[in-house]
Parts: sequence; C-alpha cells; structure tokens
Amino acid sequence: MRRIYISTLVLLMFSASSAVAASNARRVNEEVKTLLSRMTLEEKIGQMTQLTIQAVSYAKGPDKGKIDMKKLDEAILKYHVGSILNVFDSSLSVQSWNTLITRIQDVAMKTRLKIPVIYGIDAIHGATYTKGATLFPQPLNMAATFDTTLLKREGAITALEVRASGIPWIFYPLMGLGRQPLWSRIYETFGEDSYLASRMGASYIEGAQGDDIGAPDKVATCLKHYVGYGLPLDGKDRTEAWIPWRMMEQYYLPPFKAGVEAGAPTIMGNSAEVNGIPGHANYRLLTQVLHKRWHFKGFVVSDWGDIENLYTKYRIVSSPEEAVRIAVMAGVDMSMVPSDYSFYNYLLALVKAHKVPMWRINQAVSRILRVKFELGLFKNPFPDKELAARFASPSSDSTNLEAAEESITLVKNENHFLPLSKNIKVLVAGPNADDLSAMNGGWTITWQGNAENLYPKNKLNPLQAIQAKIGKQNVTYVQGCTYDSLTDADSAVAAAKHADAVILCLGEHTYAETPGNINSLALPWAQTKLAKMLMATGKPVVLVMLEGRPRVINPIVGGSKAILAAFLPGMDGGEALANILFGDANPSGRLPITYPRYDDALYHYDHGRASVMGGNVYDPQWNFGYGLSYTTFKYSDLRLSKEKINERENEVVTVKVTNAGSMAGKDAVLLYMGEKVRQVSHPVKQLAGFGKIYLEPGQSKVVSFTIAPEQLSFIGISNKRIIQPGSFKVSVGDLSREFEVVGPRVGFFGGFSR
Ligand code: BGC
Repeated sequence: MRRIYISTLVLLMFSASSAVAASNARRVNEEVKTLLSRMTLEEKIGQMTQLTIQAVSYAKGPDKGKIDMKKLDEAILKYHVGSILNVFDSSLSVQSWNTLITRIQDVAMKTRLKIPVIYGIDAIHGATYTKGATLFPQPLNMAATFDTTLLKREGAITALEVRASGIPWIFYPLMGLGRQPLWSRIYETFGEDSYLASRMGASYIEGAQGDDIGAPDKVATCLKHYVGYGLPLDGKDRTEAWIPWRMMEQYYLPPFKAGVEAGAPTIMGNSAEVNGIPGHANYRLLTQVLHKRWHFKGFVVSDWGDIENLYTKYRIVSSPEEAVRIAVMAGVDMSMVPSDYSFYNYLLALVKAHKVPMWRINQAVSRILRVKFELGLFKNPFPDKELAARFASPSSDSTNLEAAEESITLVKNENHFLPLSKNIKVLVAGPNADDLSAMNGGWTITWQGNAENLYPKNKLNPLQAIQAKIGKQNVTYVQGCTYDSLTDADSAVAAAKHADAVILCLGEHTYAETPGNINSLALPWAQTKLAKMLMATGKPVVLVMLEGRPRVINPIVGGSKAILAAFLPGMDGGEALANILFGDANPSGRLPITYPRYDDALYHYDHGRASVMGGNVYDPQWNFGYGLSYTTFKYSDLRLSKEKINERENEVVTVKVTNAGSMAGKDAVLLYMGEKVRQVSHPVKQLAGFGKIYLEPGQSKVVSFTIAPEQLSFIGISNKRIIQPGSFKVSVGDLSREFEVVGPRVGFFGGFSR
C-alpha cells in the first residue's frame, strides 16, 4: 500500500514538473515570437553575429586590453551584435569580469528592444579565464576517473564560477572522440570510447545546467566540435578526416546525441573537414541529423572564423559572401566572426538580394533568443554579485583534489614498489617537476596555458608537494633536461647515487590547438636519455608522465619500477601525485585511451578481429581501461537477469566486487559486451557499462549494470541502426556470461529517426 502511495506520489510530482516544463517552454516560445515580430532585419542579423572581446577593446597603448566604449557602442548600437566571447589575453578577477559584463549589458539596455548580449567563454577544465578559479584535471583525466559523479560536481562548480563572473554560456563539453593520439586536442576529449564520452559529457551537462539554465548558478553548455574534428589523417589540428558514414553513426554521432538529450542548448561546428566537407557547410549534419532527427531546439555557433574559412581556407566557394550563404543555409545560426562586421554585411546583402530566405533568418534568431530567454537574461542580464561568496570554496577545492587523485592512473608497479615510504631520500628530476603549468596544459589562465607567472601562488607543483610530504631535507632536485635537450643530466646522475629513489617527471609542455602539433609521438630523445642515465645508476626510478597525449615511452618502461600516467591532473595535481606516491591516496584511474607502445602502431581497444588474427598482434603499451591499485579487487558472481531477452528488453548484469587487499580504495568496474555474429565486422568487445565504488579492506559490494536495447544495436550494412538477434557475451575482469537476444532476424532499432 505504502509503495503504491509513494510511486503514485512520484508519478504525480514527475507529471507536475513536466507540466511546468511544458508551460515554461510555451511561454518562452510566445516571448520569442513576440520579440521577433518587433525586430528589424538588421537587428536580427546582429543577433547572429558574435565578436571577440578584442574587437571592442583597445589593441595597444596605455588602455590595451580595456574596453573601448566607442567600439562597443558601435558593435551593439549600430550593428546590434548579440554575442561576445573570449578574454583579451589572460584571466580576469571575478570583479573585473563583473565590471566588463555590466558595461556590455548597460549598452545592450540602451538598444531599442533591450536584447541582452550573451557572453560565451571557454571553460575546458573549470573557469579557464577567471582568476583563482577551481581548475580541475583536464577532460581526458576526468574520463580516467570513470566516475560520473565527479563530472557532475565539476559541471556544477564550473557553472557557479563562470556565472559568478557574470558569464552565462560555456564552450564545453567536447564530445568529439580522441582516437588520433597525435592530435593536439586529445586532452580536451573524454578519450577514445563513444560510450564513455557520452556518459561523461552528459553527467557534466547535468551538473552545469541542472534542471534550469536560468537558475542563478547554472550556465548553458555548448557541445563541440560537431563532428569528426578529432580524427585528422595527418594528426595535425584542423586538417582533414575521413569518416565513412557508417562509422560516423556508430562512433562519432552518439556522444553528441547524448549531449543533446542531456539538454545542451548550443553546439559548435567542426572547424575541420570530414570526407571533404567542411564542418560548417555540412547541411546533412547541421540540419538533417541535428534538428530533424534529434529535434535539437538550440542554436549552432560557428567556431573561430570558420564561415570565412569556407572561402579562404577550404575554397569550396568563390567569395566570402557565398561562404556566409552556404554556412547559414547549412544550419549555422551564429557566426563567431570574430573580429569584424563582414558576416553582418554579407548576410544583410544576401537577404536583401533574396539569396538567403527570411524564414531561415527568423529560424536562427528564434533559436538564439530562446536560449537568451531560458537563461533568464531578459529578466536580469547583469552579474549576480552574491555568487562571489561561493567562488573557489574549500569544498570545490577538495572535490578538485579528489578528482585529481582519481584521474591519475598507475600503469606499472613492479613488486608493489609504490607506495613509497615517507622515511626515504628522493631525487626529483625532469622538466615537469617544478612547474604548475605542466600539470594543467592549455586553456589555463591563458589560451596556451604557459604563463607560469600568472599561476596561483598557493598551489603545489610536484616537487613542492613531495617536499611538503616528506620534508625538504629529504628531497634533492636536479632538472636534468628540458623537454628536448639535456642540461644538468650528469648532476642528476650524481645526485641519484645519494637517493633511495628517483621520481622523474617527464612529458610535454603546455599547448592548445595548432601550436601543439607534433610529428612523432615518441617522447623527445633528451627525456628518454635522462631516464636511461638515471636507471643506469641502479636506483629505482618512478616515472611520472605529465602530458596532454600518450607519448611513447616504450624504451624506458622496462627500466622503471613504477609509472604513473598522470596526463594533466590540474591545479591540485601536485598534491594528488604526492598523496599517491607516498600512499596517502590509493590510485583508481583507468586509461580512457589505448596507450601506444610504438610510434607507428596506433590501436584502439575496440579494434576489429583482424588485428589479432593471421599473425597480427594487438600490442599496445597499455590497453584502454587498464589501471592498477594498491589493493586487490576480486570479481565474483557475475549474473544476468535473464538468459534470453527480446530486442525491446533490458538485460541487467550484476557482479560482486570484494576488496581482497589491505588498503581501502576505489575501483572502476568496467563491463564489456560483444556480439558473436553481426552482418558487419565488429569489435570483440565494447564498453557497455561502468561504475565506481569505494571499498574498505574485506568489504564487498554488488554492482549492477543495465544494458538498454539501444546498446544491443549497431549500424548495419545499409547504414541503419539495427539489432541482430543472436548471442552476446558480457565480461567484467576475467568473468564472462552469455545471453541470447531472440526476435526477428534483423530488427530496426527505432527506425532511422533516432
Ligand atoms: C576553438 C574552440 C574555442 C574557440 C573560442 C577555437 O579556436 O577551436 O574550441 O571554443 O576557439 O575560443
């Protein structure tokens, strides 16, 4: 009786809240319609125009970087510009942001219709451009936590800190896949797996947006970069990818669909080209898939200068005006121009010449206005000063440390060499030991993240954190080499002789986008050489890899005692590393990408069967999902809810996990699934579920995974999503079970409209 009562209540509450949502949506639609009917063509085109803040600031002189009111007035009053983005060159304090946003909105309030400006900002691992913000591990690290609750908390904290700065819109999360390890933006992704990226991105959106992006501490998110940017054939940023449509549907589109379903109201186009079609000219993707199939209600913003690029870079049109027409008609609603009024002028001329129809302008502007209404900007476009009190709070900081600890993956630990005793003397060496920026990477305080002088003074780099942990007197520091040349390597060798262990911090320096291009994944020679020289002393060497992508370290793996794949663990990375190295934290990260062993043999874990047959060997350095702990987790009792299901049913898989070691810790439990026979070649196994649990020594928990029908489906030979009845195998660790899906020979999954 009580149960019935509760479930009826929940149902009533649910239908009440969906009724409220529906009535809000109706109200917003009405508001948009009314406003649109009062707007001139020029005002509408202004709404579709986004400028960088540099375009309305002094470029030089004593006021360099400050707003130039003449330019701002021109942008908003004359050109009706609806959106501004970016930062002049480095982060601003909350107060400076508040002043800046207030000045912008003050001008917007002088316009005839008082349409607020929507300010957008990159917030890749926290509020990138606000001084003192909580800067989390980079997305690749967050994926390594396999902990969706951390993503949700990161989203909520970032939203609060960005909104405290007066900004309601972030260009994040990045839902593209990281399947080309050379690419300089790998660290901005959630790794190589479509399912992992979907879950991580959706959790982040949930945290950042809550139920209502109009709430004072929430923001609108922007999925990027739609779609296929991350697979450049030559590994260089913004170059061509070839992704057959079947693979696009199977791997690349699902994370974006998950982001749309999670409620992201904006999407950024792909700066690069896929199959010869630049992202901003792709009608099929930008309109047919996004709006017609997924019923996306928000708007598409271009990436930086990418409409003009259709003419200047891709040469798919013979004039910049034609570039505007192609992009707008393909489905780009707002142009990140970013520095002039070319887009505005061309589009105005195109509409007047009837080359772009008015319905398309109305459609784009309605989408943009809807998001402005939903964000509550029409009610109050100004910063909420109250939020400053909650900015970078101690609890946000402790979430950050937790995330950093969970994001570091222990990939080698010979004879349980780690954790180290605190009563030893260590040599700390390597180019990344005495640097905060190397743990943070690009999109930190500045675009390239390399302005070490602007970094907070209260955060510890790896060297400082190790000193704080075991006492300065027990730590010797000799850098030994820069990224690519030996410096005081002989002194490092001499110092190693007096140490009990060497902690060698190698990897990459900071970069973002094209400046991060490389020609080889191999770790630069000097770093490998230093490692070998130190290993030759006979002292145990622990490698700490701080890097934005998996640089090949095969030549020095064998000689090391332990290795931490730390990637970019963020502002609290130093403390997290010291905690892990000396046993105050138990590592629980798992690799979100396959770590290559060789420069030219780049694998993915979900490879086809041919990679392991006929003499072929699948031989990465470490596989996707790999990661060690200081304790031992044992899996048992892998069970299925049913041995046979039909293609509309869920399968529930449970497994018992026991901490059989002597240290408490977290375990990322990964469920893989594969189908025996499919009409197309298919991976042996793919990630189908994961959960993160904490267990005291001796404690056990049962973890449950629900496999939904969509997960049984795949893109078949005719590019349609289908379910092929047959036998499926699920596995957790070494355990596996099989179940049958019975039904028609091949069933369409939800038709093509999904
Ligand atoms: C990047 C985007 C970013 C935009 C605005 C572009 O260069 O590709 O990811 O959001 O700049 O800063």
